[in-house]
Amino acid sequence: MPEENKQYKRILVTSALPYANGPIHIGHMAGVYIPSDTYVRYQRLKHRDVIHICGSDEHGVAITMRARKEGCTPQDIIDKYHELNKKAFEDFGISFDIYSRTSCDTHTETASEIFKTLYDNGKFIEKESEQYYDEEAKLFLADRYITGTCPHCGNTNAYGDQCEKCGTSLEPTDLIDPKSAISGSKPVLKKTKHWYMPLDQYQQFLEDWILKDHKNWKTNVYGQCKSWLDQGLQPRAVSRDLDWGIHVPVEGGEGKVLYVWFDAPIGYISFTKELTPDWEKYWKSPDTKLVHFIGKDNIVFHCIVFPAILKAEGSYILPDNVPANEFLNLENDKISTSRNWAVWLHEYNEAFPGKQDVLRYVLTANAPETKDNDFTWKDFQQRNNSELVAVLGNFVNRTLLLTDKYFGGIVPDGSNLTDADKEALSKIKEIKDSTEASIEQYRFREALNNAMGLGRLGNKYITEQEPWKVWKTDQERVKAILYVNLQITAAISTVLEPFLPHTTEKLRGFLNIAKTFEWDEIGEKELLPAGHKLNKSSLLFEPITDEVVQAQIDKLNQTKIDNLKNNFKPQDPKPEIAFEDFEKCDIRTATIISAEKVKKSNKLLKLLVDTGIDQRTVVSGIAEHYNPEEIAGRKILMIVNLKPRKIMGIESTGMILSAVGADGSLHFLNPDAELHNGCVIG
Ligand code: 2FM
Ligand code: ZN
Repeated sequence: MPEENKQYKRILVTSALPYANGPIHIGHMAGVYIPSDTYVRYQRLKHRDVIHICGSDEHGVAITMRARKEGCTPQDIIDKYHELNKKAFEDFGISFDIYSRTSCDTHTETASEIFKTLYDNGKFIEKESEQYYDEEAKLFLADRYITGTCPHCGNTNAYGDQCEKCGTSLEPTDLIDPKSAISGSKPVLKKTKHWYMPLDQYQQFLEDWILKDHKNWKTNVYGQCKSWLDQGLQPRAVSRDLDWGIHVPVEGGEGKVLYVWFDAPIGYISFTKELTPDWEKYWKSPDTKLVHFIGKDNIVFHCIVFPAILKAEGSYILPDNVPANEFLNLENDKISTSRNWAVWLHEYNEAFPGKQDVLRYVLTANAPETKDNDFTWKDFQQRNNSELVAVLGNFVNRTLLLTDKYFGGIVPDGSNLTDADKEALSKIKEIKDSTEASIEQYRFREALNNAMGLGRLGNKYITEQEPWKVWKTDQERVKAILYVNLQITAAISTVLEPFLPHTTEKLRGFLNIAKTFEWDEIGEKELLPAGHKLNKSSLLFEPITDEVVQAQIDKLNQTKIDNLKNNFKPQDPKPEIAFEDFEKCDIRTATIISAEKVKKSNKLLKLLVDTGIDQRTVVSGIAEHYNPEEIAGRKILMIVNLKPRKIMGIESTGMILSAVGADGSLHFLNPDAELHNGCVIG
């Protein structure tokens, strides 16, 4: 039977385990955690047996490198970032059923056990190979501990496992001019033994399972798998020479640990064990639908490597779907932890308290589902102000305020409905059904747009019906209008729950209802009966001002400047000169008397300068850095004996001393204010 038509009894959702080596940012949220949380919240509303598993990925080179950088132990790093990220997810309303960590005992036992089973059953091959070794630091250099030049694009900072510039996946021995990231020395090749998962032996199985049986997977996921399979799978090492991780639990494993990509996905199993004694029901029954939410850089591990491991073990189910997203950029630049180019979740939570749903909304509306996408603060503001405030919030607010004003907050009678009223009510079910269909197909942007149809429907209906005008002539009619509005509002409080959980909870408070409505009854029956008493309401959303958004943009601009400064490399020194050569330069303190733009030039200013000797004209290429008005009266340093030059037809008789900063900004050098014009520098 094609997998897509299969009826499952329960759903096991996993979200990629983030490395506990840094904070979570909006790219992680848009790519993985907001879609998975939306999916799981929807499944809960459908009363399906669903669990959502996640936790910190605490092994591997990502952790040890960070510890080295911060000058502390790997344990310090994982403790710090596990707590930070766990809290940030909670504050943001990501509803994991468990958020554990791969350093826990259950995980060590589970991963060791699976490794041992595969080893005992002869599923691995053992190979001795030559790997880079740092003779100064006396250790083998795994993956990111080696840097060098990418053979594909010439990037001089490529890592031993990947070039981040061109995205190519590499072997350390591919790098030109390899260097140890620990000591900076040139590593030597040395023999070492490792266990390998012979993926080539699973080629046929994976081709059948993915390319034939899972044609329904997202195009980006299917395409990446096909490309790996078309290249032909190779054995992959599942152990590393490292002292941080789970020790290889078999003979000859001393001093070696499991490769982080062997143990991390097993974390999904370990954490399910921690969550429930019934874990086998989720992992070993063909009635379970397993769905992995991940980012595109994790596709090969979840669609090829982990399934091959599970298949080799033999008692686990494989994923039904892996709805991986592409990447989110920030203000037209790649999000980067090392360059601090990100919006960090914990910082957002602090800067925008109570506005978690705004970010959820924007990141879903603009999710990188089929291609990389860009987050900008202006778009964030615009979507909040013109979609959440102006459409959804405005409709709900008008409905609740008018009900309060005209009917004392009591749901009015809805027995006299016109065709237009019935037509509006009939749309509720259509909208709910289309939202549901999109979520089931992992199309969350589309699902959100469909669900927002309720806000658009209500707004259009209330604007057309104008109850505030009708009230003056026909108060009975207003009852029907507000009754319809309230049914739409009630539907919003449930249909939008998977996307905007905080907002819909607040709304249910206004509506005086204890819990969400039955999903399957939405649009099928009356949600708020006449006579039901509502609570007092307030605004669901507030406009976001230009100042608030500008503060975030300024922060990013500052990051850009800091990065330029941190990466500033002074120019190579110029060749030595004799003292007499320097003495030939007549440098004086001087004052700019006036300045004006040179016609037909964007770069040049014409300055009149008092040198203390005389007043003279200087043409200077500073128009992009200084306004003419702001530099009049400024004290400067100037070379006064340069041979005059004609620039754009104007004779220039000197040169002002200035320096260019790391960010390209130009700065005059200021003499001490006490110095009068004409003092000799030297
Ligand atoms: O890419 C990452 O951030 C990995 N830590 C994801 C691991 S997902 C799973 F396999 F655990
Ligand atoms: Zn490259």
